[in-house]
Amino acid sequence: MTRVLICYGTSEGQTEAIAERMGDVVGGEGHEVTLTHLKHPPNGLDPGAYDGIVVGASIHGGSHQRYVGSFVRDHLETLNRRPSAFFSVSLTAAHDDPGERAPAAELLEAFLDETGWNPDGTLAVAGALKYSEYGRLKRFVMRWIAGRASGDTDTARDYEYTDWDDVESFAREFTTLLRADA
Ligand SMILES: Cc1cc2nc3c(=O)[nH]c(=O)nc-3n(C[C@H](O)[C@H](O)[C@H](O)COP(=O)(O)O)c2cc1C
Repeated sequence: MTRVLICYGTSEGQTEAIAERMGDVVGGEGHEVTLTHLKHPPNGLDPGAYDGIVVGASIHGGSHQRYVGSFVRDHLETLNRRPSAFFSVSLTAAHDDPGERAPAAELLEAFLDETGWNPDGTLAVAGALKYSEYGRLKRFVMRWIAGRASGDTDTARDYEYTDWDDVESFAREFTTLLRADA
């Protein structure tokens, strides 16, 4: 059976939810899936033991989680040799306007440039605004940022912008890579 590692960095949980949905799709296609939060990876996690690797990270203050970058750098050779994919989660990716959405793709590319990784597939995907889970300061800052971007500012509720169809298509496409590599 083909083994797939889906690992991620997350700060408020949306990237984890996306990774889990990808895991459902990849698992549904008959592959054995291991999901791992890279902030607390199991001892001796070895991407080389997997036939395919998907890595996800979210953007905060203009960059992805540092520990995800470290993981990619530490396992660069394996990642560049195996079927691999990267997805980047942000609010910028939620914009309808291509010009306003562009920085999401730029930050994704910057992550790849900085790490030297050349994945087979990439996805910039919209995340969520989880006002109910932020502390007071974070809620205030995010409301201000959302307001400046003409976004959603009612802090009495949460907003999810993730396009789950896109997420599932991306995961399904990744499984075709695995078949091609087998
Ligand atoms: C403190 C903070 C800073 C953020 N900074 C950015 C940013 O610079 N650019 C962006 O597009 N999204 C930004 N976001 C939005 C997150 O990327 C979005 O909420 C995403 O869903 C978070 O994913 P996670 O829950 O997996 O961490 C920020 C969110 C928070 C809470």
